[in-house]
Amino acid sequence: MPCGVSGCHCGWVPGCARGGPPLESQCPPAPRFTLAARRCPIATVAGSGSSANPALHFAESYVTEDLVLRTARSLANEVGLEAVTPGAGATLRLLAAAGNARAVVEIGTGTGVSGVWLLRGMRADGVLTTIDVEVEHQRIARRIFTEAGFVAGRTRIITGRALDVLPRLADGAYDLVFVDAEATGFTACVDAALRLLRPGGVLVLNGALAGGRIGDPAARDAETVTVRETVKAIRESEHWIPAVLPVGHGLLAAVRC
Ligand SMILES: C[S@@+](CC[C@H](N)C(=O)[O-])C[C@H]1O[C@@H](n2cnc3c(N)ncnc32)[C@H](O)[C@@H]1O
Repeated sequence: MPCGVSGCHCGWVPGCARGGPPLESQCPPAPRFTLAARRCPIATVAGSGSSANPALHFAESYVTEDLVLRTARSLANEVGLEAVTPGAGATLRLLAAAGNARAVVEIGTGTGVSGVWLLRGMRADGVLTTIDVEVEHQRIARRIFTEAGFVAGRTRIITGRALDVLPRLADGAYDLVFVDAEATGFTACVDAALRLLRPGGVLVLNGALAGGRIGDPAARDAETVTVRETVKAIRESEHWIPAVLPVGHGLLAAVRC
C-alpha cells in the first residue's frame, strides 16, 4: 500500500508535497471503487505550473480535498482527463454558494471532480445538470456523486454533445453554468449560457488562460485563438460583468446582466 499501512487507501504516494504518510489512526476507510486512488492531489496541481510560484501553490492547496475528491481526481488521471484543480474547485464551490445556486449546468462531467465541488456549494435542494459526450466518464462520476453523499435526485446526468443537449434546457432557469470541455466549443457554450442563465447568474469557463498562451501574440493555434476571442467578446459585451481568475488553468467568471 502506498502509505505503508496495510489495507489503507488514503491516496498518499511517496514524494507527495503533503509531507509524508498519515498515521494509521488517521487513515480513512477505503472507498468502494475497483480502481484505487493512487495519485497525490498536490502533485496534480504542481503539474499545472503552480509549484514554481509559492503564492499560487499556497492558493491551490489552501482548501484541501477529501478522499472522495482525491479518488475522483485519481480516476480522472487514469482515464486521461484533467480535472479542475483544488483551487478552481474551491472557487466553483464559492461561486455556487455565493449565488445560493439551486440549478447549475455543467458542460464536461469528467469523473465528477468539479461536480462534487459545485454540489457542495449549492443549496441542499439544488440540482446539477451535467453533460458529457462520454458515457464511461459519467459512469464513474455517478458513483463519485453517490460516494460523496448526494442522492440521485441531486444530479441530472445527460449523455451527449453539449451543442445537442443545451438547446433542450430551459431559458433563464439556471443560476450558474460551468464550461469545462473543448475550447473550440466555447463560443457556442457562451451563447447558450446567455440564454440559460437568469439575470445575476454566473458563467464560468475553465481554461481561460489557454495554457498560459493567452497573452502571447505569437500563439496562433486554433485553441488559443478561440479562447482569446471568447474572453475578448465577453469583456466587450453589454450582457456580462466578467473577471479572469488566475486559479487552476484560469477561470473566466462573468455575471449575466
Ligand atoms: C476536462 S474534462 C472535464 C473534467 C471535469 N469538469 C472535472 O473537473 O472533473 C472534459 C470533459 O468534456 C467532455 N467533452 C468533450 N467535448 C464535449 C462535448 N462537445 N460535449 C460534451 N462533453 C464533452 C469529455 O468527454 C470530458 O469528460
